Amino acid sequence: MTLLDRYPVRIAGTGSYVPERVLTNADLEKMVETTDEWILTRTGIRERRIAADNQATSDLAVEAARKAMADAEVDPGEIDLIIVATVTPDMAFPATACYVQHKIGARNSVAYDIAAACSGFLYGVDIAATQISGGAVKCALVIGADKLSSIVNWKDRNTCVLFGDGAGAVVVKRAEESSGRILSMVKGTDGAQTGILKVPGSGTGCDPAEMEPVQGTVEGTIYMAGREVFKHAVTAMKEAAIKVIADAGLKPEDVSMLIPHQANLRIIEAIRERLALPEERCFVNLEKYGNTSAAAVAIALDEANRSGAIKRGDAVVLVVFGAGLTWASACIRW
Ligand code: UT7
Repeated sequence: MTLLDRYPVRIAGTGSYVPERVLTNADLEKMVETTDEWILTRTGIRERRIAADNQATSDLAVEAARKAMADAEVDPGEIDLIIVATVTPDMAFPATACYVQHKIGARNSVAYDIAAACSGFLYGVDIAATQISGGAVKCALVIGADKLSSIVNWKDRNTCVLFGDGAGAVVVKRAEESSGRILSMVKGTDGAQTGILKVPGSGTGCDPAEMEPVQGTVEGTIYMAGREVFKHAVTAMKEAAIKVIADAGLKPEDVSMLIPHQANLRIIEAIRERLALPEERCFVNLEKYGNTSAAAVAIALDEANRSGAIKRGDAVVLVVFGAGLTWASACIRW
């Protein structure tokens, strides 16, 4: 029996926000040597959203947070914990969560950030869930928000076509008798693979092996060994999804909706096929937004919730993967 069995926890509301500006594959054709056809067939992405210069990560986060609070019917004063998962904070400090706390008026909350790249949102949900099930917190706001456009090298076709900006949020509370609940969570980290997805020169790192310039890398922008990351992503996400389903006491065929990290349609398809799920039981929206890092799975969850793609009683599986390497999965009775 886990802590989550003794004191069940639920997702009480969802919200998301993407900036207005759309950057299409055709726009990128004018910026780097690429084609719409290459981007679409290799990734599944058609367009992504780019935040305005005067929009900080906290601004994206606040929009998503307000919608999640409205959906959960909670007031800012009821929130006692705010976690923002981001790798593009407003500043090195204070935490982006502190800006969010002030902007939404959640004066009774503790607020901090976590950095787990694309896995950050589910790491945040895990922290909130264990805090709530342990009794320390009653109501938490977990936000995945990133302005990746601020750390993309717009001259590097290997990476600039992949990413976008956005935010997704959930309100997490203790479950009631009749409500849904988080059934199981799985997390993992492999720090031996820090070198294949990173932002060199963005911090205090001075290990020559890590800092050695990789061809085409520009300090302070994303470097990714795409093929390597791809392989790890498929393996880790498949295993995490299978384990979280088994830990929930379910079988893959019981899953009503798989909501994976939105990085590459080929990765998503590999996981869906491993679970032997039909296409309609796998939620995909990356064609509209690209990879929005910590926000991606949270935006997808919100869209699935609001569109009716997931309904009360459904078994929903979230699975994510990102730099670190990090990965996580959650199985939720919606
Ligand atoms: O959020 C964290 C998790 N991130 C991921 O999961 C991303 C994982 N990786 C991927 O999604 C894929 O590896 C990529 C989409 C990044 C790349 O796809 P790929 O099928 O692995 O391509 P590749 O790296 O093997 O490159 C194939 C070719 C290369 O040319 P050569 O060496 O075969 O001549 C690249 O130079 O495609 C070339 N290429 C491009 N061509 C046109 C790379 N980027 C582009 C581009 N347009 N934008």
